[in-house]
Amino acid sequence: MVIREKAESDAAACLELLLEVHRKDHYPLHITAGQVPEFLESGHEAAAWVAEEDGRIVGHVALHTPPADPTLELAGARTGLPLDGLALLARLFVAPSARRTGLGRTLLRHAAAQAPALGRRAVLDVGQTLASAVALYEAEGWSRVGELHLPLDEETMLDLWVYVSPPAGAQ
Ligand SMILES: CC(C)(COP(=O)(O)OP(=O)(O)OC[C@H]1O[C@@H](n2cnc3c(N)ncnc32)[C@H](O)[C@@H]1OP(=O)(O)O)[C@@H](O)C(=O)NCCC(=O)NCCS
Repeated sequence: MVIREKAESDAAACLELLLEVHRKDHYPLHITAGQVPEFLESGHEAAAWVAEEDGRIVGHVALHTPPADPTLELAGARTGLPLDGLALLARLFVAPSARRTGLGRTLLRHAAAQAPALGRRAVLDVGQTLASAVALYEAEGWSRVGELHLPLDEETMLDLWVYVSPPAGAQ
């Protein structure tokens, strides 16, 4: 198992993996399969990594640095850090066949550990129904600092928990 920076040539394999995750877990929430490519490409990606096993991509995580974002605003208010002192850890997903082997934890720790190199602390949001991800963040000592309810349309609400990473050196 290797964790390495994502390359442009990984795009198709990452999309294929996320489509598999979307079929199984409905993550990303509240979007159709046809919207998954745009979701994967969106979000002001500052850095991203993939996990590769035997030449196959089995995991992905990114750090995003949007200029404005409700999660960053909430995390900034709770931590006292400026928005440009925070990075959104995003697009974390692991192949169903590779789950519960510690890969999600490894990707989470890897990305959070890289945030200080950008002068930032990692924070994230997670759909409240994504129980595996919530369990991972809790197990890893991330702190839940609030919640967001973002209307996607007249009928659909995106309900999120917002977490901040453990202080540097805590893990
Ligand atoms: C969330 C996700 C990345 C976890 O990946 P993973 O490789 O299976 O996680 P790990 O094996 O590293 O799990 C580490 C710890 O997290 C917790 N955990 C992870 N999945 C869990 C589950 N299904 N139930 C309970 N606890 C879980 C456990 O504490 C686990 O430690 P343990 O296996 O020693 O008990 C994966 O389930 C996934 O891709 N889900 C769909 C996409 C998603 O929801 N992404 C998050 C977007 S915010």
